[in-house]
Amino acid sequence: MLVSIIGLGLLGIGLGLGSQRPMLDDPSAVDSYAVRRFAPDLPRLGNIGLQQAAAAGPARIEKLVTGIDADGLAIHLNPAQELAQAEGDKRFPDGAKTLKALTKRMPGRVVVKETGCGISRETALRIKAAGVKTLDIAGAGGTSWTRVENLRKGADPSRRTWLDEWGIPTAASLVETSDLGLELVASGGLRTGLDAAKCIALGADVCGFALPVLRAYASGGYSGALFFLQQVITDLKVVMLLVGVKDIAALKKVRPVITGRLQEWTISRSRR
Ligand SMILES: Cc1cc2nc3c(=O)[nH]c(=O)nc-3n(C[C@H](O)[C@H](O)[C@H](O)COP(=O)(O)O)c2cc1C
Repeated sequence: MLVSIIGLGLLGIGLGLGSQRPMLDDPSAVDSYAVRRFAPDLPRLGNIGLQQAAAAGPARIEKLVTGIDADGLAIHLNPAQELAQAEGDKRFPDGAKTLKALTKRMPGRVVVKETGCGISRETALRIKAAGVKTLDIAGAGGTSWTRVENLRKGADPSRRTWLDEWGIPTAASLVETSDLGLELVASGGLRTGLDAAKCIALGADVCGFALPVLRAYASGGYSGALFFLQQVITDLKVVMLLVGVKDIAALKKVRPVITGRLQEWTISRSRR
């Protein structure tokens, strides 16, 4: 995976690291997160779950970021996964209080992210009130951790698809949150540059890909992952040319046509 990290640096793509929970228990785990030496200019974010952050306290969480010289921290929300997981952490302490304490203390950018269930307008407003300026909505439609947990359990066939489809779809979550003055990352089910273009037109500032990069790496190694990411960038540029916009700022200003289920979602939510 190391060469892929260097490749990300070459393409100017940032990296969100995996959960640093192991580092809280074992400081020597730092080596597997410290990637700056391989790609010095690569923007990178550390990562920890909100529940683990609440339990560890701001001082220990700050060390997760400074210990790997990251540009900031992504704090992930994954209640559906914890609830679906046999050994999941079922305690849910006051998230707003934890976020307030972290935003006051953390060096660099603080991002709050979901992990495949999306973020509603109401939740986004609570996160914003806690001082957070960037959200990764990580909506439903791509990697589903409830599905992963159900596959892991495998015991009771009647429970094997429990909450598999749970969550706010990525596009709907963007519509819910795009006018709140937050910087938005769209992830969850993005597979092509066209998906990225649609998300940007719906309000995203940044787009995130997880599973397709891993798949490309698994089947084609470094060059497979690099080719996939280059293709995403090329396809995004093609779509921008066809739409008639010359930069991302202009793409953000196009008026998207919303049809089908997303239109139904928007109408339903406007009747609050
Ligand atoms: C193998 C894998 C591991 C992941 N690990 C984490 C993690 O440790 N912390 C986190 O916040 N999100 C994690 N994610 C979630 C992604 O960051 C992202 O929000 C979402 O899965 C993107 O959707 P996609 O996989 O459909 O592209 C992981 C995703 C995958 C596929």
